Formats: sequence, structure tokens, C-alpha cells
Amino acid sequence: MSEDVLKIGLLGCGPIAQFAHLPALAKARRVALRAICDGAEDLLHAIGRRYGVQSLHQDYAAFLNDSDIDAVLIAVPDVFHVPLACQALAAGKHVLVEKPLGDSADECWELLCAVRRTGLKLQVGNMKRHDPGIAFAHRFVREQLGQILSVSGWYCDSLFRPAFLETLLPPTVTSQRAIRPSADPKADKRRYSLVTHGAHLLDNLRYLGGAITGVTARLAEKRGQHSWHGLLEFEHGGLGHFELTVKTNADWSEGYRIYGEHGSVEVKTFVPFYYRPSEVRAFDARTEQWYAPLGAHSNPYKNQLEAFARSVLDNEPVNPDASEGLATVCLLEAIEASVGAGQHTEVRQMSAEP
Ligand SMILES: NC(=O)c1ccc[n+]([C@@H]2O[C@H](COP(=O)([O-])OP(=O)(O)OC[C@H]3O[C@@H](n4cnc5c(N)ncnc54)[C@H](O)[C@@H]3O)[C@@H](O)[C@H]2O)c1
Repeated sequence: MSEDVLKIGLLGCGPIAQFAHLPALAKARRVALRAICDGAEDLLHAIGRRYGVQSLHQDYAAFLNDSDIDAVLIAVPDVFHVPLACQALAAGKHVLVEKPLGDSADECWELLCAVRRTGLKLQVGNMKRHDPGIAFAHRFVREQLGQILSVSGWYCDSLFRPAFLETLLPPTVTSQRAIRPSADPKADKRRYSLVTHGAHLLDNLRYLGGAITGVTARLAEKRGQHSWHGLLEFEHGGLGHFELTVKTNADWSEGYRIYGEHGSVEVKTFVPFYYRPSEVRAFDARTEQWYAPLGAHSNPYKNQLEAFARSVLDNEPVNPDASEGLATVCLLEAIEASVGAGQHTEVRQMSAEP
């Protein structure tokens, strides 16, 4: 690549684009927003005006033909991720696609094959990996902990999150003309809650703890609230457990605990829009010292864009890549299957080279 800036086109001007991606695109180093696409004309022009972007497209194929963009940031409903990411790769564009990678493991496999065929970069929007606290915890586990015994995590979404978001964020622009999936993804509240929040929790558990091969999960459901609990079996032989509760009559709560041969790591994670880095305490038993990172650059959406730019411009590894996005979708499917069958379920291992 001749220039030192990654020229990005944004697909989708919905809430996450307005809350997170557009402000991050305006700030991120080595990234320039060059074009926007949204099927809703009113929304597209309102957002284009706000961010001073001239190249505005309602038609996705015409947007992909724009030779001024190297990469596409896909922020549309989950069921559209795989077909639209495949179309972007076919047009020669690198892709940063929102989490979860796709709607099923089988379709994610097709996308992974397309990534390998084209040699282009595809990063999944698990921005929590780019929270400097989580990134520090990941490094400490890999470099200091030795063999891992136990890895646990919880993610409990608060009933008060809408009030937190109304307090923290500007009002969003909406459109009656937005392109929506034919079936409302929120109609099946149980699946929607598992997938939309579980995609973060389970990716973090895999990132911090390693590959997961088996799961035994149960679900409690009361008054539209869901609580999944489960035993996790890791490839390295360690065990762990998870809790995903949506929603709680309590504050937001998310955290991780890893115990290893030479020490331990404790992580407390905040609502992303506080832009607070996760608080991490890491203990090295060999020196009897605690470590805690500051994490001053703590906007995970901005950090993930800068990491994406490095992966394309400097050929650095993608974090997380399509095979990891696929592994998280396989784990989500194993949890659903385990709850349905009431028994231990093996997690499909689909990410190996074909
Ligand atoms: N990482 C996070 O913290 C986080 C938070 C919230 C949502 N998300 C994810 O972000 C994604 C988007 O969520 P949202 O609620 O902002 O989206 P949304 O449902 O509001 O859709 C965004 C926009 O995409 C446009 N669109 C859809 N298909 C199109 C097409 N083919 N061509 C042109 N425009 C098209 C629609 O018109 C709409 O305006 C989801 O996958 C969701 O899971 C991530």
C-alpha cells in the first residue's frame, strides 16, 4: 500500500455507527473515512452532512466500486454480516465487520474460506480485545501465568443500561427507511440476548483463557430475563465457568478471573461508553508482586480501528480474525445445543486450515 492511511468506507449509519464508529473514525490515527453507505437516504445524508463526507451511496454495489476506499467497516444487522462481507472481499476490499461474525457457524465457515482465498484482511468487531486492560490481561496470562488451571467470566447486563446510555450518549438519528432483516432479530429475545451479549463474553473468555472444546450449560428464564450458566472445558485441560445474565436488577457487571501455575489475573470491565479501561490486578507469585496497568488510550472502538489499520498497512496479525470469529459462533451454538439437550456438548472445531 503506497499511502500510510487506510481509506475506509462505512456501511450502516445505525446506533452503533453513530455512538461508536463515527466518533472513533474521526479520531483514529492512520485511518480516514472516505465514503458512507446506507439504504436509508434521509439517514445517509444527515450523517454525511454531520461528518463532512461527500461520497454517499444508497447502493452497496456502487459503494464497493468506489476506488477511493481500501476497506469497509460493516455495521449492519447480524444476518447481513456474512453476505455483505463476502461481497466486499469479492470487490477487493479489506473488512472490519461488527460482532458476531455471522448468524451461523456454517455461513461463517464460507466467509473464512473467502478470506483465505482472497488473502485480504478481515477483522471482527470484538472491540473489547482492544480495551488496554483486557489487552494487558491477555499478555500477562500468555507471558507470566504458565499452565492455566481455571478461567471464569461473567457478563450481567443491567436493566438500567438504557438510562446509562441516554445519560452518556447524544440522541441518535433514526429513519423509517432503514433496511431491516425480514425477521425481527429481537423477536426471539432469548436467542438475541445470548448472541448479542454472549459474543463479547465468550470472545473474551477465549481470548484470555484459550480454545474451548466442551460446554455444559443451563438456562433460567423468568419474566423475560435470562440467565445462562455453564461449565467450560479448555483445550489446555483447565476448567472454567461462565454466567451471562440479561438483564439484572443491579449495576452492569462484567469480569474475568484466571488462575495459573505462576499467578493470577482479575479483570473488572465497565460499560463500553464510559471509555474506562478494564481494571486489572495481576499477581506474579514468583516475585510476590501485583501489577496494574493504567490504560490511558481507552477508547476500544478507536483502538480496534488503529489495530485494523496496522494489520492492513503493516501486515500485522488481525485481532480477532475470521477463524476466531467462527470459533465464538461455534461456542454460542454449543451453548444453545447444550441447554436444549440438557447435557454436555462438544464445541465444533471448524477453524483449521481446509
Ligand atoms: N460492538 C458493540 O459494542 C456493538 C454494540 C451494538 C451493536 N453492535 C452490532 O452492530 C451491528 C449493527 O447494529 P445497529 O443496531 O447499529 O444496526 P441497525 O439495525 O440500526 O442497522 C444499521 C443500518 O444499516 C443499514 N443497512 C442494512 N443493510 C444495508 C444494505 N444492504 N445496504 C445499505 N444499508 C444497509 C440500515 O439501513 C440501517 O440504517 C449489529 O451486528 C450489532 O450486533 C455492536
